[in-house]
Amino acid sequence: MAIKSDVEKIKDAVSEEPTDEVKDVGEIKKSENEEPKLTDLPGIGPAVSAKLENAGVYDMMSLAVMTPAILSDAAGVSEAVARKAIQASRNILNLGFVDGTEYARKRESVNYITTGSKNFNDLLGGKGVESRSITEAFGAFGSGKTQVGLTLAVNVQLPVDKGGSNGKCVFIDTEGTFRPSRVKQIAETLGANPEKVLKNIFVARAFNSDHQILLLDKVSEMIRNGEPIKLLIIDSLTAHFRAEFSGRGQLADRQQKLNRYIHHLMKIAETHNLAVYVTNQVMANPAQLFGDPTTAIGGHIVGHASTYRIYLRRSKQGSRVAKLIDSPNLPDNEIIFYVTEAGVVDEA
Ligand code: GTP
Ligand code: MG
Repeated sequence: MAIKSDVEKIKDAVSEEPTDEVKDVGEIKKSENEEPKLTDLPGIGPAVSAKLENAGVYDMMSLAVMTPAILSDAAGVSEAVARKAIQASRNILNLGFVDGTEYARKRESVNYITTGSKNFNDLLGGKGVESRSITEAFGAFGSGKTQVGLTLAVNVQLPVDKGGSNGKCVFIDTEGTFRPSRVKQIAETLGANPEKVLKNIFVARAFNSDHQILLLDKVSEMIRNGEPIKLLIIDSLTAHFRAEFSGRGQLADRQQKLNRYIHHLMKIAETHNLAVYVTNQVMANPAQLFGDPTTAIGGHIVGHASTYRIYLRRSKQGSRVAKLIDSPNLPDNEIIFYVTEAGVVDEA
């Protein structure tokens, strides 16, 4: 099985322009992109693989980041076998260090989508949400999570020099809150053709968590077929998972499923050099005594995977506050923005 090196993947991603040629690239990728299976690893047969699946380890990336002791425990194999399997998976996935030039090349290929607000862009490092990462917005009902998503869905279509990525958007709607009329309104205030803008947004309603999961495969398929998708929105990431796994005893199952889903999102973001924007509800956290007593659903698994986490809340005189949380490379900071007819903006 041909596994692509990171460099090759980046080259492919860089060449993903919305031209007819992309179609060919997409089709070539089809066979090469086939995912390595756990049973490709030494010491992992179908029975062990099934055991691992029961333990929530479905793909090679999940196995590659385990320790031998934990894998040995989960798979019922010796630590020596576990160590070999982990090493093999890391080789297959090409994990490890990349040299400086390769790293720089990877950074260069990152593209950005403006939020519509300079303040908000600055919060995210200057240019808006970025490709190859997940940006998570969490906050209470009405805080603006969906509005940010709809604005991004329009802005991704702008040319690069206008703050867009010259690409299309996939909007996975779990809540039934996607509003075509609102998209058209935002597009119109930008001076864009509302019908055209709407046509470049592929909307799918996800009816339950399994459906939500299946839709990701559909997205990969669309990209392979040449659609220049540069933004993937999941609104909301967690609502179905939360509703379906509501009992206390189901928390581990929910996290496992959510973890796997987020892994999948990260892989799509990385492989296709696209930006992922997800929204997340908050729940009251009775353990927290000071500050805002709300915590994102899904806890640390969602938190660690998102490259940018933003907490949104309503503030005085119709303003909204966006606060960046736990960023690995940017200071925790907060800014003020507004939601108007034009979508997300700096001033009302
Ligand atoms: P939930 O999905 O319920 O958790 O909330 P959310 O965070 O997604 O909220 P959403 O982004 O839907 O924000 C809704 C708010 O955006 C409304 O209460 C309005 O204040 C504002 N809003 C939505 N549409 C418009 C519009 O056309 N014009 C203006 N000025 N504000 C709008
Ligand atoms: Mg919403």
